[in-house]
Amino acid sequence: MHAPVPAGAADTLFALQQSRYSCRGFLPEPVPRAMIERIVTAAQSTASWCNAQPWQVHIASGAAAERFRSELNAYLQTHDATPDYDFPREYTGAYQARRRECGFQLYEAVGVARGDREASHAQAMRNFLLFDAPHVALITSEADLGTYGAVDCGAYVANFMLAAQSLGVATVPQAALARYPAFVRTFFGLPESRLVVCGISFGFADMAHPANQFRTRRADMAEVAQWVET
Ligand SMILES: Cc1cc2nc3c(=O)[nH]c(=O)nc-3n(C[C@H](O)[C@H](O)[C@H](O)COP(=O)(O)O)c2cc1C
Repeated sequence: MHAPVPAGAADTLFALQQSRYSCRGFLPEPVPRAMIERIVTAAQSTASWCNAQPWQVHIASGAAAERFRSELNAYLQTHDATPDYDFPREYTGAYQARRRECGFQLYEAVGVARGDREASHAQAMRNFLLFDAPHVALITSEADLGTYGAVDCGAYVANFMLAAQSLGVATVPQAALARYPAFVRTFFGLPESRLVVCGISFGFADMAHPANQFRTRRADMAEVAQWVET
């Protein structure tokens, strides 16, 4: 007995998954609050270990998003990055190749020449301007829930992005914002036990923005799936 699903559900889901991309150029128009609430409500269906639902989402909009942007940029001039969760130690092999490819795609799109460190640094710093997005969501987990709390939050981020995509709202997940968790906790008034997983800047895409003109590739199924049947 299969659970009933709406007609066309698989096609709709596939279309949403295929059309989502990380948006790095936004229009200033805000997303209506009712739309944001629909996204957050949909993301709330995310599965988590023991249904603990470790995620909390703090969303800065309007003047608060402006304040987040300007205060974060001031903060990072005088503070080192101290992420709560370990950042990747090293990218080697296929991971290094994929990282390079998507980096070069972005640089090519925005006109940063290979080896131009100043220009690539300026592009990286756009993370902290939230790529001009009118909203930013910060996703935190509970320290006691450890690595799996962060895993649950990752699933939450994916659902948030797909729900946004279904409403025509563009997103970019940003580990960059997790570099300064003390700033995030102070800004939103969070206790030390809330660990910063990542941010999601979101809004309506500026489809003409150079940074939005490329799409990343994925490995073929054969590279990731092994079938064991006997
Ligand atoms: C957990 C996570 C953190 C990310 N952090 C950043 C970031 O700090 N800055 C950024 O520009 N993109 C960031 N990205 C976006 C990835 O670069 C992007 O998802 C990847 O290149 C695949 O491209 P796509 O999202 O367009 O399909 C992040 C993605 C994830 C899932």
